[in-house]
Amino acid sequence: MSETTGRKFALLPMLGHTKGKRSPVTCALKCDNACSGDVCNTSSNSYFRDIASATMSRRAALGFGAAGALAVVLGSAVTSAGTAVADGGTGLAAAAKDGFGKSKLQFTAIPSIAADVDKLTVPAGFTWQPVIRWGDPIFNTAPDFDLNKQTAAAQEQQFGYNNDYSDILEIPGSKGRRAVLFANHEYTNENIMFPATMPAADVRAVGQAAHGLTVVELERKNKNKPWSYVKGAGLNRRYLNSTVYELTGPVAGSSLVKTIDDPSGRAIKGTLGNCSGGTTPWGTILSGEENFNGYFVSPGTSAEDKRYGLTSKATARQWEIDDKRFDTRNKGYENEANRFGWIVEVDPFDPTSTPKKHSALGRFKHEGANVIVAESGHVVAYSGDDERFDYLYKFVSKDKYREGDRKHNMTLLSAGDLYVAKFTGNSPAAEITGTGAVPADGAFDGTGEWLPLVVGGKSCVPGMPSVEEVLVYTRLAADKVGPTKMDRCEDVQPSLHTGKVYVACTNNSDRGKAGKEGATEINPRNANRDGHIVEITESGDQTSTTFTWNLLMVCGDPAQGDVTYFSGFPVDQVSPISCPDNLAFDAVGNLWISTDGAPSGIGRADGLFKVTLDGAERGKVEQFLAVPRDAETCGPIVHDDERTVFVSVQHPGEDGTFDAPNSYFPDYVAAGTTPASGQVRAPRPSVVQVFRTDA
Ligand code: FEO
Ligand code: CA
Ligand code: CA
Repeated sequence: MSETTGRKFALLPMLGHTKGKRSPVTCALKCDNACSGDVCNTSSNSYFRDIASATMSRRAALGFGAAGALAVVLGSAVTSAGTAVADGGTGLAAAAKDGFGKSKLQFTAIPSIAADVDKLTVPAGFTWQPVIRWGDPIFNTAPDFDLNKQTAAAQEQQFGYNNDYSDILEIPGSKGRRAVLFANHEYTNENIMFPATMPAADVRAVGQAAHGLTVVELERKNKNKPWSYVKGAGLNRRYLNSTVYELTGPVAGSSLVKTIDDPSGRAIKGTLGNCSGGTTPWGTILSGEENFNGYFVSPGTSAEDKRYGLTSKATARQWEIDDKRFDTRNKGYENEANRFGWIVEVDPFDPTSTPKKHSALGRFKHEGANVIVAESGHVVAYSGDDERFDYLYKFVSKDKYREGDRKHNMTLLSAGDLYVAKFTGNSPAAEITGTGAVPADGAFDGTGEWLPLVVGGKSCVPGMPSVEEVLVYTRLAADKVGPTKMDRCEDVQPSLHTGKVYVACTNNSDRGKAGKEGATEINPRNANRDGHIVEITESGDQTSTTFTWNLLMVCGDPAQGDVTYFSGFPVDQVSPISCPDNLAFDAVGNLWISTDGAPSGIGRADGLFKVTLDGAERGKVEQFLAVPRDAETCGPIVHDDERTVFVSVQHPGEDGTFDAPNSYFPDYVAAGTTPASGQVRAPRPSVVQVFRTDA
């Protein structure tokens, strides 16, 4: 392969291949133009409209801790950055007793904001500041960020790019004054990160160093003051492409994951395409490897390559020029792409620990994973495969959670059963018109099953007896058992107040197109531009293999004539919302939704929204913030008990250029002025804290 003259060459062929009005840059760099290519799932697996009686009875599921600010069990200490909850692994009962109380975080919804506004808009009485920005030095040896003198060595010691999932966990014993922040770095925007004169090899090297994960310590003067990060703190860590991850579970050591560099099949360098994540009851962080295929050149001819979107075209970033493992056509590296597409687990409290990739949760384009402790004591992880017409999965651990035994609990995701979801609607097919209009029984609802893929260490997939194959090629395995094709499952998160599970289906522009599956009761809109939210109620505890379901909302802007549904709440009283992506809960059980793609849906800026789940206002959507131009909102952390909210602002100014930025977030250095120390006149993905002006 010959080196091209630079990144612009690499990007240009992809421009113009986008759907709707979404930025071509986002499509090329984030998802490898997933929406412009063929749908990966060409299986004939179809939707069955069995009419079954819904069983709404459900024992109270037991989960962990309180919502919004997850409690962390570290030995005997239990703490959280927002709400300290002295509780163990079966604390949902205590949380549920509190019911849906009134949140301490009261605000007046902001209006919908135009997509080209380069501001972070927050409600009256609130203000914001960045906690950490792309390029901020995290080690004492790290140089200050210099936009025009970027090096890989510097970036490896600085906060990475395009932070997505984030969470904040209090450091035990710090009396609420010290915490760790986790953030992952999904992808890079070379067109706005680097000057055009920067050599292509340097662009590739710095770009690689800007991927991965970061853990950084935070401090604050007291609980009423905003957090800031601590340069040089003991727990600070960057996870880079050279960082070794231990592969756990049935695939560890398999011939499907061995390479010339790792004949053990157990030691994987790096993590890629990290999107959303989750925080476990034992205080570790999970992160989903999502669009990993965009980093590999592959033969692209096998059924496996096709199902995972692996092709023979040059990648957008062309790392294959410098490192043979990014071209799986190279001898010895045939399995390299099989080493990505997993759920990663890291211990943010031990900077020397080896991070893990958990093969038992299957390999697909994991948006993230969220864990709850079932009444039985098993832990259950929900995870969506974010691709048009792909599936929703559930993992149930073999062993049980042990309160206070962190070492044991950190093994729970290494062995267990894997299921994939099948949804059945209860309304006649003729009533699902594809517009989003509610059927005659007044609800999009029905029953469902978790179809087994692996149970008791054995494959349940006809014609696929190898557990290793089921877990490495999980998409193909799932195709054989008849799950429901979904509209791009993003975050899947159980409420620790009720045990109900919420699934953000972000959109699916292809639903109902010629040759593609049309609207069903669970995915009720053709050309689904704005997405919807599914609410699942497990029939027993969280380990149950059957459930009932309903749609909480069908998103859009009623004022623009969109057919929407908000659980019966008046549609003229909601904030318009489109393309739900990440989910979080506050301490009293309200759902919070961040969005990615609203500019291409309702034509407004992406934002963060609170949704009431209980009582007369169930379905009420209130917009809390809007992110700056070209950005998406990620990684919401809602510490409503402290009247503060955090979000990851990803890819601000993405459609601009280095020389003509579309955004100046978050430093907003005025033209012609000298930036203050640490600031630059360029867009910087950042974790932001929103807090009251009287804090
Ligand atoms: Fe990276 Fe599914 O969003
Ligand atoms: Ca119905
Ligand atoms: Ca996402």
